[in-house]
Amino acid sequence: MIRIGPVDVSLEQRQLYLKGQPLRVGTRAFDILEVLIEAAGKLVSKDELLERVWPDTIVEESNLQVHIASLRKLLGNGRDFIKTIPGRGYLLTCPDDIEHRAAARSDGAANPDSAPLSNVPLGHTPLIGREKALDEVKSALAESPHVTLVGAGGIGKSQLGLEVARGLTPLFNDVRYINLSTVERPESTLSAIADRLACAGSTGVVTASSLIHAIGCRKMLIVLDNCEHVIQQAASICEQLVESNPNLRILATSREPLRTCLERIYWVAPLEVPAEHAGHDDILRCSAVDMFVSRAHAHAPSFLADGESTTLIGTICRRLDGLPLALELAAARVAALGISELVARLDQRFGVLTGGLRTAPPRQQTLKAALDWSHQFLCERERIVLRRISVFDGAFQLSAACEVAAYDELRADDVTEAIAGLVSKSLLMFGPNGSLMTYHLLETTRAYALQMLAESGESDLMFCKHEYFQRTRGAVTDDVDTIATPHEHTNLALQYA
Ligand SMILES: Nc1ncnc2c1ncn2[C@@H]1O[C@H](COP(=O)(O)OP(=O)(O)OP(=O)(O)O)[C@@H](O)[C@H]1O
Ligand SMILES: [Mg+2]
Repeated sequence: MIRIGPVDVSLEQRQLYLKGQPLRVGTRAFDILEVLIEAAGKLVSKDELLERVWPDTIVEESNLQVHIASLRKLLGNGRDFIKTIPGRGYLLTCPDDIEHRAAARSDGAANPDSAPLSNVPLGHTPLIGREKALDEVKSALAESPHVTLVGAGGIGKSQLGLEVARGLTPLFNDVRYINLSTVERPESTLSAIADRLACAGSTGVVTASSLIHAIGCRKMLIVLDNCEHVIQQAASICEQLVESNPNLRILATSREPLRTCLERIYWVAPLEVPAEHAGHDDILRCSAVDMFVSRAHAHAPSFLADGESTTLIGTICRRLDGLPLALELAAARVAALGISELVARLDQRFGVLTGGLRTAPPRQQTLKAALDWSHQFLCERERIVLRRISVFDGAFQLSAACEVAAYDELRADDVTEAIAGLVSKSLLMFGPNGSLMTYHLLETTRAYALQMLAESGESDLMFCKHEYFQRTRGAVTDDVDTIATPHEHTNLALQYA
């Protein structure tokens, strides 16, 4: 579909639509429009139009004028989409979408009229271990107009979203990838989206309704990547867009849910890590190990996952919580440090995992930057609670968190609020254990929070409170490994809700 003002044009069906309803258009009028669309905003002379539309007949120029007038009426008389250049010819004045179509044609697509437009970048490195997630996200998008991939920094939300978009491209006329992480001010979100959709068509100020108007009823998939830092604006735009176009699907990624009424949340889980005493073959079967080994190979071609190093690789993957970004940063250190040294230095992970890709965004250049990015979005109460609960090494329940972290300016209610906030911002893992919810910090998040606790000067106090709590009330005995993966529970719950 091509959009001209309020009207959608299907070149395949030779049909115009207004708000999804077909408009009556004559054959000659459509032929004229097709020639103008092909010219993609360039002037078409009257002679050329006459020759193309009436190839075997000599007709009066007035015929052309009549059809142009009827087209103008169909496209909305309010704005002159077909401009007359006196004495020379005509041109179409809303070229954005049309230019894209023209580019697709000149790219030599096999069947340009039916080839969807897409600006989704090619995936040069394979996505590892996400087969089930790909299926689940695609099904979620078949059922809901707006799905958000939520999870910790560097867990692979963007890569998963891109791969889903590549897989779904044939089902849409237009697939647009919009990376919001480069939007500097929240107020610029709307214009950034309009810009990248290249369909606003107007030169004036962009508003939500002009964007809705420009998208019309296009069968479109928008990937709105990295929404967390403009979450309020992203939420409002998503809600308005999906409510106005039944053919639109939005796949958002964010470290925090957008919380809109049509949103369906998909929690992205870490890659699979081996159990502590897993054997050689079981270790190699895990997706986290697969990813680490393939990245380590890229940095050090002589690198081999042999008997001894396999166990160490399993340890690295487990201690880095199966987090793709952390695994990538660790793999980049293999050539310089070797596997044993890397394991030995995991306790100082923030000092070691610093060599991100030059082309990666700053928040993914180091492991610490990935956490700093999330930390900046916490309110003061959440920051205090995050560092205080770092004394828990493993799973804990809300009552335990309240007991330990409620102190001084924070009451138990504040701690409860903060725990909910930390969960929603993907800094605290959660999952039901029987009728109770259980929480735990990933090892990397805990290491980060412990540093903050030390800097706050509260370490001794909090460890004392924790010890006292364990002595008097008893520790939660469940090991994290025995609790079902929180994301699995949540996504299943959502799936069958
Ligand atoms: N399944 C995977 N297979 C291979 N590489 C992956 C996979 N998932 C993520 N990666 C790599 O890990 C890094 C982080 O992934 P990604 O950017 O998708 O994370 P994210 O969750 O979107 O992070 P952020 O919250 O910072 O936006 C990227 O360099 C990406 O190439
Ligand atoms: Mg991302």
